[in-house]
Amino acid sequence: MINIYNEEEINTIKESGHITYMCHQHLKKMLRPGVTTKEIDDEAGKFIRSQGGIPSCLGYEGYPANICISINEEVVHGIASDEVTLKEGDIVTLDICTLYKGYHSDSAWSYPVGHINKEKEHLMYHTEKALYTGLKELKAGAKLGNASARIEQYAKRHGLGVVRELVGHGVGHELHEAPDVPNYGKYNTGIELKAGMVIAVEPMLTAGKRYVALLDDDWTIVTEDGHPAAHFEHTVVIREDGYEILTGE
Ligand code: MF3
Ligand code: CO
Repeated sequence: MINIYNEEEINTIKESGHITYMCHQHLKKMLRPGVTTKEIDDEAGKFIRSQGGIPSCLGYEGYPANICISINEEVVHGIASDEVTLKEGDIVTLDICTLYKGYHSDSAWSYPVGHINKEKEHLMYHTEKALYTGLKELKAGAKLGNASARIEQYAKRHGLGVVRELVGHGVGHELHEAPDVPNYGKYNTGIELKAGMVIAVEPMLTAGKRYVALLDDDWTIVTEDGHPAAHFEHTVVIREDGYEILTGE
């Protein structure tokens, strides 16, 4: 079943999303060589709670940190550690989920640490673009597959790999709800979007091949070939004439 949220609920998801957004803005300032991922994660927990929220990731299926912090070839679900330090030239993805007044929001963003190489620059620039290109397909009456197909087409045109094992999702009462929102697919397939559906769209693209592997910690997913990955995600609500971002200002 796909939830349809009313305006009051959408407003609360937007408040939740604003905390997620502000958390990104807050943590962004810490992303310098020498900072440990544990310091970033601690600050995320403090910030979200200071706004009246709860970090949704903590304890989710046993996940042991406040947010997901994934560096370079790590695609998603990297776990903070006091032994991992950011280095000049890294790209780091912060994937932040907040529960506020009973509603979840979810947004991931990849950031450069100092000066990054051309491969990473190309990857980050076009993964962010892929997100917004996909979002443009969203409106009531359209098929969800259009957004998926658009993201895949955009990624391929720019020589990037599309991770298929991980997908976007509905979000609201639960962190992960129906429907799945893949980053690949065919036009005119999938469910018909309705106003009030809330989904997290989250292209995860790679600079090399699209294949991924799971590390021994049972959480961290990395690219198989070691090339970097980027990840940009917004929670959005479907409107009659388009979409509205709920994880923004
Ligand atoms: N934003 C992540 C996702 O959609 C949330 C992960 S929570 C975790 O997959 F517990 F799995 F880390
Ligand atoms: Co998500």
